[in-house]
Amino acid sequence: MKALLVAGARPNFMKVAPILRALRARGAEAVLVHTGQHYDAQMSDAFFRDLDIPAPDHHLGIGSGTHAEQTARIMLAFEPVLSATRPDWVVVVGDVNSTIACALVASKLRDALGCRIAHVEAGLRSNDWGMPEEVNRVLTDRLSDLLLLPSRDAEANLLAEGIPRERIAFAGNVMIDSLLAKVTEAIATDLPVRLGIERGQYVVTTLHRPSNVDTPEALRVVLEGLAAVAERLPVVLPIHPRTRRNAEAFRLGALLARIRTIEPLGYLEMLSLTEGAAVVLTDSGGLQEETTALGVPCVTLRAQTERPVTVTEGTNRMAPWPLTAHGMLSAFEDALALGSGGRQPCAIEGWDGRASERIVSALLERARSASSP
Ligand code: UD1
Repeated sequence: MKALLVAGARPNFMKVAPILRALRARGAEAVLVHTGQHYDAQMSDAFFRDLDIPAPDHHLGIGSGTHAEQTARIMLAFEPVLSATRPDWVVVVGDVNSTIACALVASKLRDALGCRIAHVEAGLRSNDWGMPEEVNRVLTDRLSDLLLLPSRDAEANLLAEGIPRERIAFAGNVMIDSLLAKVTEAIATDLPVRLGIERGQYVVTTLHRPSNVDTPEALRVVLEGLAAVAERLPVVLPIHPRTRRNAEAFRLGALLARIRTIEPLGYLEMLSLTEGAAVVLTDSGGLQEETTALGVPCVTLRAQTERPVTVTEGTNRMAPWPLTAHGMLSAFEDALALGSGGRQPCAIEGWDGRASERIVSALLERARSASSP
């Protein structure tokens, strides 16, 4: 069996790494394509290094642009690579523009090439069509032949959209495979000590969603909330390039200076920082899951989450919406109080470090059944 795996942006790399390893361990042929959606050393290369991902077989070098430009450029560059590779499976992960672009190309070549599409992290829904990721998720699921669930609750979303049950398989959360494999090595990087902060005595925050950072009004409110939290505990923000650029353009530098900004971190250092935090405040999807796996309290700075299992069975809570500085501070205080009771190990089914094995088993099984008469 030959599988072509697509990675494009930062949150893809920790999902692709264990799948690639599991494919090769089972004797399958694996071809890695990096679209180049993320390209800075700290947004891409650092993750390849930290996660022991071999250099991609194909690098499409796409870079930034509007949604249409980025998606279209990926499609144009991916089509000849797919045609030449002729895999049994095109495996796409998550919900970024690279995910939908490659799934769409594969869906048009499916019959001509005899390839099928597997979507890892299928069935998550925010029901917010203003989020580019929601569009990417729903359409990728609709195009996929095999929908691999990260948690059981995601199945109902797919069935409600009319996706046939036989296309769906439970996999568990592959991001947690990377986390469990790397957490000891991550802690050994001692990032908090190197930043001069004490384990359990600081807050980590990440911000990059357009809804929080792309208008001066929204970014001001979030930064005011973080400044209020910083009166209680030091707040560290590894800053996404988009957020830094916008804070400068909106002249919010003075407000940003009330928290500690650092450059974006690689996988191991970010995991070290997260693991040692008292509380995480974030608009990232992945961090909601990672904090749940680590037992670190998390406040999500969004109107809704496509990962409700992190609230019902994990350590996540939603900040009151619309965001206000006062609402963020009170959600932070509640999360801090929860954390003072000690950390609970994560008991969500399939968040056990073995999701990549289940993914590869599902691919192999279905590849066999497709080739049998
Ligand atoms: C993308 C994903 C989002 C994911 C996030 C993680 C989509 C629609 N969005 O958002 O789901 O949570 O990645 O980071 O796919 N930039 C750099 N260097 C880089 C990459 C980006 O400077 O290596 C800057 C560019 O100015 C670019 C901006 O960041 O225009 C936004 O990058 P883009 O990939 O378009 O979206 P993200 O906000 O990173």
